[in-house]
Amino acid sequence: MVNELTVVVLAAGGGTRMRSKTMKVLHPLGGRTMVGHVLAAVRSVEPQRIVTVVGHQRDQVEPHVRQLVPDVVLAVQEELLGTGDAVRAAMDAVGETHGTVLVAYGDTPLLEGESLRAFVADHEVAARAVSILSSVVSDPTGYGRIVRGADGGVEAIVEEKDATAEQRAILEVNSGILAFEADFLREALPRLTNDNAKGEYYLTDTVALAREVGRPVGAFVLDDVAQTAGANDRAQLAELGRELNRRILLRWMREGVTVMDPATTWIDADVVLAPDVTLLPGTQLLGATVVGEDAVVGPDTTLKDCEVGEGARVVRTHGELAVIGAGASVGPFSYLRPGTELGAGGKIGGFVETKNARIGEGAKVPHLSYVGDAEIGEGTNIGAGTIFANYDGVAKHRTTIGRHARTGSNNTFVAPVSVGDGAGTGAGTVVRDDVAAGALALSAGPQRELEGWAERRRPGTAQAEAARAAREAGAEPGEG
Ligand code: UD1
Ligand code: CA
Repeated sequence: MVNELTVVVLAAGGGTRMRSKTMKVLHPLGGRTMVGHVLAAVRSVEPQRIVTVVGHQRDQVEPHVRQLVPDVVLAVQEELLGTGDAVRAAMDAVGETHGTVLVAYGDTPLLEGESLRAFVADHEVAARAVSILSSVVSDPTGYGRIVRGADGGVEAIVEEKDATAEQRAILEVNSGILAFEADFLREALPRLTNDNAKGEYYLTDTVALAREVGRPVGAFVLDDVAQTAGANDRAQLAELGRELNRRILLRWMREGVTVMDPATTWIDADVVLAPDVTLLPGTQLLGATVVGEDAVVGPDTTLKDCEVGEGARVVRTHGELAVIGAGASVGPFSYLRPGTELGAGGKIGGFVETKNARIGEGAKVPHLSYVGDAEIGEGTNIGAGTIFANYDGVAKHRTTIGRHARTGSNNTFVAPVSVGDGAGTGAGTVVRDDVAAGALALSAGPQRELEGWAERRRPGTAQAEAARAAREAGAEPGEG
């Protein structure tokens, strides 16, 4: 039978060093909040229940945690009386539990599910009352020290403020992650006292309590210290963010992704990349972005919640909630706003902004255009400098352009309007009325010419002088 597992995540602490109106564990890195990373790691261990202890700014924390873990058990710690008191609040909220209770903190975003799984397995196989996830560090300042007896067995955790000089020299420290036999924990919690340097109920005192009653305790050493590192201020948050990114990039490179410059490439935790994707310098792939095989993204591109098809090419682009088809080409200098869908083999070129626009297979918007609230059929080409005028000052309207249409340069489509399949428009056309399939629409009138205008109306200017010189040289109108 699989052992019952309850995970307790402590997230009641204030985090004043963040100097933020946002609660500490809600600060983001790698596309999730700190506590979001911890909850993802915890969920991957598939516990029967997850309890989160909230307190400080709980109006912010509660809805976030509920959204990530809909069946979470929330426990409220009214006053921060210590980690022992926090776990007591958690156990009260849970009611009857057996098996294992795993305690973790909400501010250790690099924590991996795999480590938790190994730790819990070790704890259960050894049938201990308490297990400590420890690590050996070069600077143990601030941590609880693992005190071992002559036989090497763990005897206690001593907090820094309560430690003797000799104990302070110990380099093996408590990561903060502990595993308990639930029945032992329930007996031990009421026996904790706050008779110590911080006047807090220390969860770590359960180790000595277990020893007193002859129950087995032990430590599981985790070599990867970063996994249990917490961020207390924004400098540490940035450091952890960089380390998280380094790990994410490493994972994708091992999966067959080329990252030309890891130092300037940022990938969020939930991004999914196919083998043989190439990422050029200055690329940020954020949110739930997915990139298909052989696609090349960058340089200097930010894509959030985008889908990039196989073999597509995206250069110097900013995109959000956009879908780029297989083999399509985007950029340089393109702005893809939400609802953009570019078909396979299509093109969105330089200085083009799109929004709520379905651009069909092989269709092209190559230059200097705004395409908003539009549908463009397959194989259609939109001329340079075209504006889809979707907004009349009150409401937005759609423009529909058919298949294999050819629209001229510098057109304005005054929505709502439609252009039929195979239709065309002349340069400079302002399309206010629907254009039938196969027709050519022209709105500009015939060109008028007022001969000798420059010399008559702009006398004494360089323009008039140039016109005079041309006339005297006998040039035909239009020649230079
Ligand atoms: C704690 C450990 C220490 C360990 C260190 C690792 C204890 C007594 N000490 O010390 O051995 O080396 O973590 O980082 O457990 N919290 C609550 N309610 C409280 C107090 C704390 O929810 O009343 C939460 C905090 O939000 C935080 C975590 O528990 O996420 C740790 O609390 P903190 O006060 O930072 O403990 P440390 O002194 O760092
Ligand atoms: Ca701490």
